[in-house]
Amino acid sequence: MTVTPETRFRTSQLEDNDGPPVNLTDNRSMGEIIAARFSRRGFLMGSLAVSAIAATVSPLALIAADEARAAEGSAFKFDELEAGIDDKHHVAPGYDADVLLRWGDPLFADSPEFDPLKQSAEAQAKQFGYNNDYVGYIPIDGSAEHGLLVVNHEYTNPHLMFPGIVSIVEKDGKKKAEVAPLSKEQVDVEMAAHGGTIVEIRKQDGKWQVVRDGKLNRRIMSTTEMALSGPVAGHDRVKTNADPSGTKVFGTLNNCAGGVTPWGTYVMAEENIHGYFSGELPEGHKEAANYKRLGIPEGAYEWGAHYDRFNLAKEPNEPNRFGWIVEVDVNDPNSVPRKRTAMGRFKHEGAESIVAKDGRVVFYLGDDERFDYVYKFVTAGTFNPNDRAANMNLLDDGTLYVAKFAENGSVEWMPIVFGKAPLTAENGFASQADVLIETRRAADLLGATKMDRPEDIQPNAGIGKVYVMLTNNSKRKAEQVDAANPRAENAFGHIIEIVEDGGDFAATKGKWEVLLKCGDPSVADVGATFSTATTAHGWFGMPDNCAVDSAGRLWVATDGQGPKATGRTDGLWAVDTEGAARATSKLFFRVPIGAEMCGPLFAPDDQTAFVAVQHPGDGGEDWEGFGRPSYYEDPSTRWPDFKPDMPVRPSVVAITKQGGGKIAV
Ligand code: FEO
Ligand code: CA
Ligand code: CA
Repeated sequence: MTVTPETRFRTSQLEDNDGPPVNLTDNRSMGEIIAARFSRRGFLMGSLAVSAIAATVSPLALIAADEARAAEGSAFKFDELEAGIDDKHHVAPGYDADVLLRWGDPLFADSPEFDPLKQSAEAQAKQFGYNNDYVGYIPIDGSAEHGLLVVNHEYTNPHLMFPGIVSIVEKDGKKKAEVAPLSKEQVDVEMAAHGGTIVEIRKQDGKWQVVRDGKLNRRIMSTTEMALSGPVAGHDRVKTNADPSGTKVFGTLNNCAGGVTPWGTYVMAEENIHGYFSGELPEGHKEAANYKRLGIPEGAYEWGAHYDRFNLAKEPNEPNRFGWIVEVDVNDPNSVPRKRTAMGRFKHEGAESIVAKDGRVVFYLGDDERFDYVYKFVTAGTFNPNDRAANMNLLDDGTLYVAKFAENGSVEWMPIVFGKAPLTAENGFASQADVLIETRRAADLLGATKMDRPEDIQPNAGIGKVYVMLTNNSKRKAEQVDAANPRAENAFGHIIEIVEDGGDFAATKGKWEVLLKCGDPSVADVGATFSTATTAHGWFGMPDNCAVDSAGRLWVATDGQGPKATGRTDGLWAVDTEGAARATSKLFFRVPIGAEMCGPLFAPDDQTAFVAVQHPGDGGEDWEGFGRPSYYEDPSTRWPDFKPDMPVRPSVVAITKQGGGKIAV
């Protein structure tokens, strides 16, 4: 596929996941109609947009709402932040939000300092990567103030990374940005900017610091050698010219959310893998339907022009080596990451886990595409808390299940196991490896419930519940509505709560209900279900990542808001789930325009919230507030006062309470 200027803007639009099962009609959606309401206010109004929103609710009403929430016993004690739009991040009063790591920051004693005018793959390999998404913390010696931060680098935005590749052209009387094709050197930088970072951090005098020469510091990249393990390892469908054994993969792609296992390894979820592949399969190739179901090739990246393995015409099996969960042993910086094929192949969003009553370990897995599925994986073996080594291959053997949400509020977890109808030779499966390579088709055949883009899924150990973020699905038609996906043209997403039978996370049955339908509750057509105690700042749309703090409280991060969608930037909201305050939400942190909110993560002592600000300044518009054009034109002509320390850099931010103490207590 030719790379066009349109596909070159690899923004969070890719997150719309326009895959093949998606209905691509041009009907104006309810989301677009509602969005028009916000776009009239416009970004240029800046902070005025906040006033415009607030003006719809009187100050007295806001005070009354706060009092009501207090009376109902919200679990969150902090003064709410005002929603709004600008080029800075903001946190609730009484907290500090300090940037800990930015794209390009040095990670090793011999790392070069970041200089966007002198980027190279070699430099990037020793620096913090791009577009931080998942953030995890693995304590060192049990400490809540000294540990390893593990961070995924999901994808790259070349128009924000490389100076001088954007030019503004006039077309049909309109100004339009065009992006030049990347050089091989720039592609190499992109490949090094993907993957993950493992970095030692320490809290000193109340502030987190990066330990630059930490002996476990490591970059994982799109070129890092890894092993395929589990049922698919060595299968013919994963053999390539570079790896005739079918067991050795070079790198990982599009690592979105992830997890930290109970035994202290780092798991990375490979999500939108379709964008990296280009070229055409040979006529009549046996993988054609498999790839079509995943939208491969999408051709958004030029990697296939420089590396044969990303060109389907030259290396037709390569895509089968991506779309997995990757496990990294962080205790050994030379360990070979392992792609755990037993956990299925799809557009993996994340992999949060919990130990079930009988010691087996349960991973909740979302497949982020419109009309795709919610999964869980239950290990065959049990977790041994006294012997880390005994757990190191737990992820190679277990049962993958897909969810069927019934209208009566029950959920059934259906095993995805070869040999049991319909997953048999009759449907083209010859082994469990075949079933896992085509997990989506297996789940289709089992009749799983088609969901509104499953993102992060978080078990809450304390109260035995599981929260499922369903970010949006504007393509769901009225006749496709079901109880678990109750809104047509679902522009703002919803959150489902599951209670597994008997409080057993490994159970194959459970109950579910909708915790929250998102969007502006003051617009009746939206049908949002925030409690009436939720203020004009407290509602949100497009839930994506989430976290549960050690008090068992839910925090939700969003992706996809902004001037046109909701009149506010993305951020982190605290959501009550229990008691009279259930479905009350409060804004705690918000990102600069163009960014999405990732992470979030609480330190084990709850005294720090780590959040990841991904792609600030993005969105296909030139937002001037960053001290440079957010389109990265030639700095010598457009940006003479260039400083490398510009703010348009993805970053991890550490939020602490002024004067110390737990967050939001
Ligand atoms: Fe990468 Fe589904 O978010
Ligand atoms: Ca996500
Ligand atoms: Ca996202």
